[in-house]
Amino acid sequence: MFLNTVEIITKKRDGYSLSKEEIEFLIQGYVKGEIPDYQMAAWAMAVFFQGLTPAETAALTLSMANSGERLDFNSLGFVLDKHSTGGVGDTTTLIVLPLVALAGGKIAKLSGRGLGHTGGTVDKLEAIPGFKTELTEEEIFWQVENLGLAIAGQTKNLVPADKLLYALRDVTATVDSLPLIAASIMSKKIAGGAQGIVLDVKVGRGAFMKDLESAQKLAELMVDLGRQVGLKVTAVISDMEVPLSRAQGNSLEVLEAVNVLQGKGSRRLRELSLVLAGEMLALDNKKAHLANSLDNGLAYEMFDKLVTIQGGNLQKLKVKALYKKQLLAEKSGYFSVADALKIGEIVRDLGAGRKVKGAKVDPDVGIYFTRDLGDRINQGEVLATIYANNEAALVEAMAKLGGAVKIGPVPYNRPVVLDIIRSGAKL
Ligand code: URA
Ligand code: CA
Repeated sequence: MFLNTVEIITKKRDGYSLSKEEIEFLIQGYVKGEIPDYQMAAWAMAVFFQGLTPAETAALTLSMANSGERLDFNSLGFVLDKHSTGGVGDTTTLIVLPLVALAGGKIAKLSGRGLGHTGGTVDKLEAIPGFKTELTEEEIFWQVENLGLAIAGQTKNLVPADKLLYALRDVTATVDSLPLIAASIMSKKIAGGAQGIVLDVKVGRGAFMKDLESAQKLAELMVDLGRQVGLKVTAVISDMEVPLSRAQGNSLEVLEAVNVLQGKGSRRLRELSLVLAGEMLALDNKKAHLANSLDNGLAYEMFDKLVTIQGGNLQKLKVKALYKKQLLAEKSGYFSVADALKIGEIVRDLGAGRKVKGAKVDPDVGIYFTRDLGDRINQGEVLATIYANNEAALVEAMAKLGGAVKIGPVPYNRPVVLDIIRSGAKL
């Protein structure tokens, strides 16, 4: 069959469905450089307005997943993965992996770097002196088989179609399309080789999805995609109005994950981690007293083992920022608001994240809140400490932080888990 790119774009523009062959043709042509950016951009805009059917979304996802190398863990039995759509103060991965491995699950987690105001697990782990996130396929296999868990940055060759398409969408106002987001995320998970996947779909000010309804739609789309390609997928929809933990910034967040791994630390981070780990185990037909593993120190020991095997030294992780400044509570009451978007931006601007592609991140800068959302605080007590490595950035962060938090008469009380969408239910 002879396919013509202009005809395919026209078809989508006019609201018709594309065949699997037409979608393959587009993705393969784009990755090979035979279809130029401007035609792909026109197609993405047509998709933005006309949408994709479930069959088209599945075809797109598989074409993308097949555009580069794919990992295959079938020889190791049932392997799990998790993915977050991007949040602030989210180190659930560091807590969930040891919990699941301790309960007998196997996890191969492929992680990304920070994007915009949201953090990335690879950036956080690299705050640990010596920690290596670039693992070969053989190293991932060895760790999953022998320790039960591995965590690695995405290899260069994983889903090249998404790298190209994501960069294009970023500059053509076509990121916010549910089928394109679903295909982008699920193609990477399919190529990652796990058979069971728990998705953490964030919703709120600090997330891609601002309202519960679109988060639910995205979650249902991804769970359904999983079913179409034979993967077990559960989506947990979680609150991102406020940062997930008291710590913001790479080193501070890893240290806070360690606190939670030792039975202490931020309540919301602990709660969501337990739910995500429980859902992962459920996909593998396993069950465990997960909270016990946090409280008895076993989860911390497992994390320490993981860090050591990947070349890191947790004992050497210290926050070495040059400047520290405290924000005091302006009145007495409950810690009632912390704007996840504003706080994500403040921490990024302190140097924890990037403003331009490929920039280096500063592991030591960030913010640490002395209270959980919902806790009481008295006027004049320390609410937060800012860690900075340059004075101008410190002054700017201090000026903005006051406007990002509020102490009020009612505690913050939005639940951290808002919905759970499992395959077979709700569709
Ligand atoms: N995260 C992704 O990986 N892809 C998207 O398109 C949006 C969020
Ligand atoms: Ca994240």
